[in-house]
Amino acid sequence: MTSVGVNESELLEIAIAVAADAAATAYRMRAKAITQIDTKSTITDVVTAADRAVEQQVVAALRAVRPGDAILGEEFGDDGEVVAGQVRWIVDPIDGTVNYLYGLPQYAVSIAAEVDSEVVAGVVQNAATGTVWTAALGRGAWQGQTRLTGSAATGLERALVATGFAYAAQRRAHQGRVVAALLPHIRDIRRMGAAALDLCAAAQGNVDAYYEKGLAAWDLAAGGLIARESGLLVTGLSGAAAGPDLVLAAPPALHGPLHELLVELDAAGGP
Ligand code: IPD
Ligand code: CA
Ligand code: CA
Repeated sequence: MTSVGVNESELLEIAIAVAADAAATAYRMRAKAITQIDTKSTITDVVTAADRAVEQQVVAALRAVRPGDAILGEEFGDDGEVVAGQVRWIVDPIDGTVNYLYGLPQYAVSIAAEVDSEVVAGVVQNAATGTVWTAALGRGAWQGQTRLTGSAATGLERALVATGFAYAAQRRAHQGRVVAALLPHIRDIRRMGAAALDLCAAAQGNVDAYYEKGLAAWDLAAGGLIARESGLLVTGLSGAAAGPDLVLAAPPALHGPLHELLVELDAAGGP
């Protein structure tokens, strides 16, 4: 229970069930949905019919079981003021839409529940493979029955680091300079195309760390809790909380040196 009497496990159970149905819809709709595409912030920022349909399905399912909660979704925004102690659901209907478009099996439904700005439950389901990652505040991070503990790597020079790039060209140019300067210091880079799955990969130790500038609340909410509950430090730079300026998720031993380098490279800066 949180201090305001919300049961995180109950919220997580709801999120898991809703995400499973949503992932099935995304997967089933793909062939048709990718013929119905619009663009959003830039020509590379696409939205398919499935992004909208899945979000509508998630919103309807959450409303059916928890009519008093607030909801923030990527495609349809929020439904107004959130009051103290109220649960707010944060939904990315398809994280990894470009992968979805191309048929790369790295796209996911991400659903988190937040209370008083703190994420208390989160689920990420890869809609192509069915793999599910979950976390509830203070109860650890899980992939199925396996408790996640992140990577045991300690040295930057052997760290496999995931990252991602924004849709806006100028921001990408800055991100490109940062990653080019980082590359000689680490084992390698992975750009897999879905921030929520990157955070789960870091939680699972399938990469050693992850950082990205420009994440929105729906990219970070569920995966961020999963990463944190696996034991990773999930922060921004120079004392800032993880957020749009930067998200760095790394095991404690790697966080220090990677943080130092990202500060030096001004990873949170630029447009
Ligand atoms: C994007 C993906 C991508 C990340 C971008 C996100 P979307 O989300 O998570 O990996 O680099 O910052 O916007 O548009 O596929 O939901
Ligand atoms: Ca996203
Ligand atoms: Ca999305």
